Amino acid sequence: MFATHQFTQVVSLKTTTTRSTTTKASSRRASVRVLAVDAAPKATSSSSLNTTRSAEIFKAAQDILPGGVNSPVRAFKSVGGQPIIFERVKDAYAFDVDNNKYIDYVGSWGPAICGHANERVNKKLKEQIDKGTSFGAPCELENTLGQMVIDTVPSVEMVRFCNSGTEACLSVLRVMRAYTGRDKIIKFEGCYHGHADPFLVKAGSGVITLGLPDSPGVPAAATNTTLCATYNNLDEVKALFAEHKGEIAGVILEPVVGNSGFIVPDKEFLQGLRDVTKAEGALLCFDEVMTGFRIAKGCAQEYWGVTPDLTTMGKVIGGGMPVGAYGGRRDIMDMVAPAGPMYQAGTLSGNPLAMTAGIETLSILAEPGQYEYLDKITGRLIEGILKAGRDNGHAVCGGHISGMFGFFFQEGPVKNFTDAAKSDTEKFGRWHRAMLEEGVYLAPSQYEAGFTSLAHTEADIDATIAAAQRAMARI
Ligand SMILES: Cc1ncc(COP(=O)(O)O)c(C=O)c1O
Repeated sequence: MFATHQFTQVVSLKTTTTRSTTTKASSRRASVRVLAVDAAPKATSSSSLNTTRSAEIFKAAQDILPGGVNSPVRAFKSVGGQPIIFERVKDAYAFDVDNNKYIDYVGSWGPAICGHANERVNKKLKEQIDKGTSFGAPCELENTLGQMVIDTVPSVEMVRFCNSGTEACLSVLRVMRAYTGRDKIIKFEGCYHGHADPFLVKAGSGVITLGLPDSPGVPAAATNTTLCATYNNLDEVKALFAEHKGEIAGVILEPVVGNSGFIVPDKEFLQGLRDVTKAEGALLCFDEVMTGFRIAKGCAQEYWGVTPDLTTMGKVIGGGMPVGAYGGRRDIMDMVAPAGPMYQAGTLSGNPLAMTAGIETLSILAEPGQYEYLDKITGRLIEGILKAGRDNGHAVCGGHISGMFGFFFQEGPVKNFTDAAKSDTEKFGRWHRAMLEEGVYLAPSQYEAGFTSLAHTEADIDATIAAAQRAMARI
């Protein structure tokens, strides 16, 4: 369904204390053996998963919330079974309402890079709460986090904070159009940029998972300026620029895809996008809502050595609080009101709680060795999972960069969404269930990336690999 639209203009459509009070890599590694299990239930062993209370709560939720959830992928539709209802999270673990403990590789879909309920972030948040949760007026914390972003992210000379990744992406689209005076944009099949109308075209995980080609309620007028190309295919992009000469405002993409599963771009593809946008007078935007501060301190753009004109951010930059941000070259960001005429606003934008959580999270990530640690444990994790698959006769392929990983039930290689869609999703459903029973919480879709955190210990990785061997043997 997605493939048939390629390249077309779219018109429709615990000792707890020692471990958690510090995040310094050395202390973390020294304390990894001392887990929080004394105060916590044990990880669930095979086929002993009791989810009675989760089932009751989810049943009640169906009458209260559409589909029982506030974001579709949480409903476990693509893996079958019922969602697990969490009661609390701490470090690398999630605890459900039936007292099961899971090693968590979702991490609230990315923000929990320092581990859940990180002591340092929490301490700062508690201090801030007493000073007020929202000012609706400027505060110095906005300068502090803004400067940290400017100092770290190569493309960002000015930044505007908002409240979600969706908001960041829809705002950056407006900036691209305002700056260039052009309407059309290019996105890539399988990339997700939030749920604003113009982006709900071949939009990756959530939409794929539900089997919806697009969403009803999105008028043709909202998407008929959205051009769609195949990820990692520069020729298609060049052809679109040739066909729509002087009409394309910019190109937006995930600089490592996480919303069609984990897909890595060719460096030449990214560099080619940089070159073609520049030559055509269009803007290049990296949507780093997922990859920002996760792939590397300076985001994916630093990792790849390709600097876009604009960048969107979210997730990690809010340290677990609702936040989004977009930034880029000063002359472009000067378009944004009140500096310039492009209107964008937000009641809770830059609120002191989100800024505080972001500042502390980025401070922790700036300490030496953090990304090396994430890369090391995540590499070991994905190698272990792939080996478990192959040892048990399954076709698998996958990879990682820093604390982001993923694998597909197929031989690969996977370079774009059409490749990803060849995966055995039924097997993924069985795998997901088997890992839940082993006490490992994975994203409930083949088309989502996984995330590790600084709180994941070597022992957690070993336990997960051992669980993967057992799970792969029985699916
Ligand atoms: C790359 C990317 N862009 C944008 C978004 C939308 O962010 P939010 O869910 O905060 O609106 C997401 C969400 O997962 C994302 O992964």
